[in-house]
Amino acid sequence: MASQNKPLLFIFVFLLFGSLSVLAQYSPSYACDIDKNPSLKNYAFCNKSLDVKTRVDDLVKRMSLQEKAGSIVSVADSIDRLGIPHYGWWSEALHGVSDTGPATWFNKTIVPGATSYPVVILTAASFNVSLFNILGKVVSNEARAMYNTGVAGLTFWSPNVNIFRDPRWGRGQETPGEDPLLSSIFGVAYVKGLQDRDDGDKDRLKIGACCKHYTAYDLDNWTSVDRFHFNAIITKQDLEDTYNPPFKSCVLDGNVASIMCSFNQINGIPTCGDKELLEDTVRGEWKLNGYISSDCDSLIIMFKDQRWAKTPEEVTADALIAGLDLNCGDSLKNFTENAVKRGLVNESVVDRAVTNNFATLMRLGFFDGHPSKQMYGNLGKKDICTKANQELARETARQGIVLLKNNLGSLPLRPTNIKSLAVIGPNANATKAMIGNYAGIPCKYTSPLQAFSESVQTVFESGCENVLCNVTSYFEKARSIAAAADAVVLVMGTDLSVEAEGLDRMDIVLPGQQNLLVSQVAYAAKGPVILVIMSGGGMDVSFAKRNPKVTSILWVGFPGQEGGAAMADVIFGRYNPGGRLPMTWYPRSYLMSVPMDNMNMRPDPSTGHPGRSYRFYRGETVYPFGYGLSYSLYVHRLIKAPKTVSIPLNNSSSTIDSIDATDDVCNGLTFDVNMMVTNIGKMSGSHSILLFSNPPPVIHNSPTKQLVDFKRIKLSPWERTSVSFKIDVCKQLSVVDEDGKWKVPLGKHGLQIGDVEHSVSLKI
Ligand SMILES: *[C@@H]1O[C@H](CO)[C@@H](O)[C@H](O)[C@H]1NC(C)=O
Ligand SMILES: *[C@@H]1O[C@H](CO)[C@@H](O)[C@H](O)[C@H]1NC(C)=O
Ligand SMILES: *[C@@H]1O[C@H](CO)[C@@H](O)[C@H](O)[C@H]1NC(C)=O
Ligand SMILES: *[C@@H]1O[C@H](CO)[C@@H](O)[C@H](O)[C@H]1NC(C)=O
Ligand SMILES: *[C@@H]1O[C@H](CO)[C@@H](O)[C@H](O)[C@H]1NC(C)=O
Ligand SMILES: *[C@@H]1O[C@H](CO)[C@@H](O)[C@H](O)[C@H]1NC(C)=O
Ligand SMILES: *[C@@H]1O[C@H](CO)[C@@H](O)[C@H](O)[C@H]1NC(C)=O
Ligand SMILES: *[C@@H]1O[C@H](CO)[C@@H](O)[C@H](O)[C@H]1NC(C)=O
Ligand SMILES: *[C@@H]1O[C@H](CO)[C@@H](O)[C@H](O)[C@H]1NC(C)=O
Ligand SMILES: *[C@@H]1O[C@H](CO)[C@@H](O)[C@H](O)[C@H]1NC(C)=O
Repeated sequence: MASQNKPLLFIFVFLLFGSLSVLAQYSPSYACDIDKNPSLKNYAFCNKSLDVKTRVDDLVKRMSLQEKAGSIVSVADSIDRLGIPHYGWWSEALHGVSDTGPATWFNKTIVPGATSYPVVILTAASFNVSLFNILGKVVSNEARAMYNTGVAGLTFWSPNVNIFRDPRWGRGQETPGEDPLLSSIFGVAYVKGLQDRDDGDKDRLKIGACCKHYTAYDLDNWTSVDRFHFNAIITKQDLEDTYNPPFKSCVLDGNVASIMCSFNQINGIPTCGDKELLEDTVRGEWKLNGYISSDCDSLIIMFKDQRWAKTPEEVTADALIAGLDLNCGDSLKNFTENAVKRGLVNESVVDRAVTNNFATLMRLGFFDGHPSKQMYGNLGKKDICTKANQELARETARQGIVLLKNNLGSLPLRPTNIKSLAVIGPNANATKAMIGNYAGIPCKYTSPLQAFSESVQTVFESGCENVLCNVTSYFEKARSIAAAADAVVLVMGTDLSVEAEGLDRMDIVLPGQQNLLVSQVAYAAKGPVILVIMSGGGMDVSFAKRNPKVTSILWVGFPGQEGGAAMADVIFGRYNPGGRLPMTWYPRSYLMSVPMDNMNMRPDPSTGHPGRSYRFYRGETVYPFGYGLSYSLYVHRLIKAPKTVSIPLNNSSSTIDSIDATDDVCNGLTFDVNMMVTNIGKMSGSHSILLFSNPPPVIHNSPTKQLVDFKRIKLSPWERTSVSFKIDVCKQLSVVDEDGKWKVPLGKHGLQIGDVEHSVSLKI
């Protein structure tokens, strides 16, 4: 794939107190270096006081077709005569700055690592919007610091906001889960955290984010189907109310600088060649202010794997005309000139692509001279892996961790009561496994074993050679240490050898002989047995849920570099867990009822497809979406909510069962739901309040339940607080019909918060 664009290395030799020391310093890449080339001063595109449009138009006008073609690929050519250096577009910052993209890299002497936060699915479990935003800010500080140091670009292809539709997907860990609203809210808050400047200048960007992979991409490699060949058959209804909302929100509410189209086809058309999806929707309807990139080598895949056209020039023309601006790979560089010469695409389309890319770089300050003289110019190595940033990694994991089971008297463990803790399992001393997919090099790791050992005496036995756990020869040792200890923590689950990019799961139970290890250890143990599941996706752990000797179950996602510390905080009661599952945990039998390549969200009685996600699936679950316990108990009471809401429409025809959500009458129609929430437990804690609606079944195939809003609050013991939600009738109570149109169904809408239920009648 794309090769590395190594910045220039300047070596300064100093004679220092008689000894020779060598200081190596990298330099960030930027255009319009007037000190080096004073004649650049006369170019309007280098003039900071002009607006971006004027500058970019001036630049594009000066470029040859060949130079343009070289500017629309991930490793963009330099244009020396115009003072423009190479630029590597591909960097990643999904949960900390990553070296997955070749434009960012770590080096022991320059920047050895960056703070590695939990994978997104665990962060999403916190349901804490301000946390999502703060993470974006902290990650962009480290990203910009790395750019200033010469080891990163300015454009980061994160976050991944695909819907985690099927529990088998190997990349579910990268996403905020299965719910379109949570995914949208995470996407917007994180994108704004990454991009927005502290001076509030909306035209400029701190770093550029990218919402990917547009759209309906959530199958990597399952049986004989892989993402490069997959033709996802998607209904208009599912596209509009499930797959597209996070992308739409990224653009409309997050003002994201980029959207990346996915590898797969949708209804027979590769997304990167689909004008309706790109040019008409993302740019036309949503008004993207930025560039559309392809996934890496998408165009080669369109040509070779999908046989989309007879020549690479035709693929190039199709993609450009569809709205693509940048290609991860080099197809657009190789084939654009010939595509134009053969009349397959007009140069004006190429100009649009070049303009969108360079306009983004201008908003990032790339054309404004040396970065040290710009805002964020003082960020450097000292701002990476700071104590505060690493503490936030621990705090994020604590906020996300989900308590799934807790028999009376099990958790939290009191360190003073535990003379010896047996720590067992293939992830019990995990390090790299904790940082998951799209990670970089962390500042350091705090493994579970290390963190537990700081609180109590531990005895360790991994029990399995690795997470695949296919030999039982270590089980006896595990049983014997469990029998001798006051309590047992089993850290089981997966790592990237089981679920990853390019690797979907064939099963959703703990791998290999892990269940057997858990059962044997639980049987042998004399004290509480805490089962910790480290995984991206959900697990059928019914056997442990049912087993009274497994006294507690925790899910910790892939909890990031400080994962062990966060787990210890929860297990020893220094933090009261408040995370909620952002995805349904299905029973294993679910896999038999629907093949992974069936993209329908809605159930289909004719095939036995039971529907997907809590919005449509009504079958049995191991743990449902939104599930999560606390060491405290919270009670909810409804204080105020209307019983009826009237829509001021001059049309009392009783035949109407819904109105268009886009209708003018719909604008600004809101009502309040006020709750009183009390912590009746003995510990203070953070509690997430999830508000669901049950739309009336007026529109065919509506979800039976859908998340409308959520809030996370903190409460001390016996503290109570009122929580209010403002419901925008047309935005939050609308559903999508079979033509993909948003409608507000009239009639009874149920509202549900915890065990409180209320209904509101919508009338004309
Ligand atoms: C930059 O643009 C401003 C505004 O048009 C203009 O006044 C100024 O002379 C320009 N600077 C140069 C160096 O051309
Ligand atoms: C880091 O970069 C410096 C400067 O190029 C180089 O001398 C050194 O070998 C690199 N170190 C590693 C571990 O790659
Ligand atoms: C583009 O051209 C380069 C240099 O000739 C070649 O190495 C590369 O494989 C080409 N890429 C494609 C997609 O054809
Ligand atoms: C190029 O532009 C001309 C004039 O607008 C138009 O007639 C023609 O169809 C365009 N060609 C392509 C390939 O889009
Ligand atoms: C735990 O992992 C660390 C880091 O990989 C290693 O140094 C240590 O020896 C391991 N501890 C045990 C008891 O295996
Ligand atoms: C166990 O897994 C290892 C690789 O993880 C493999 O080499 C070995 O063949 C497996 N053994 C069995 C009994 O499946
Ligand atoms: C899919 O997985 C199979 C076997 O697990 C492997 O041979 C194949 O290369 C993978 N394909 C892709 C596109 O990742
Ligand atoms: C409804 O009728 C009233 C009075 O005739 C009028 O003022 C108002 O604009 C009408 N509203 C709509 C949505 O047509
Ligand atoms: C009023 O109701 C009629 C009959 O259902 C419908 O045809 C018409 O479009 C409605 N008018 C408005 C303004 O909604
Ligand atoms: C949400 O996250 C922020 C940042 O970590 C934290 O300060 C705040 O306390 C959290 N809110 C709740 C209710 O836990």
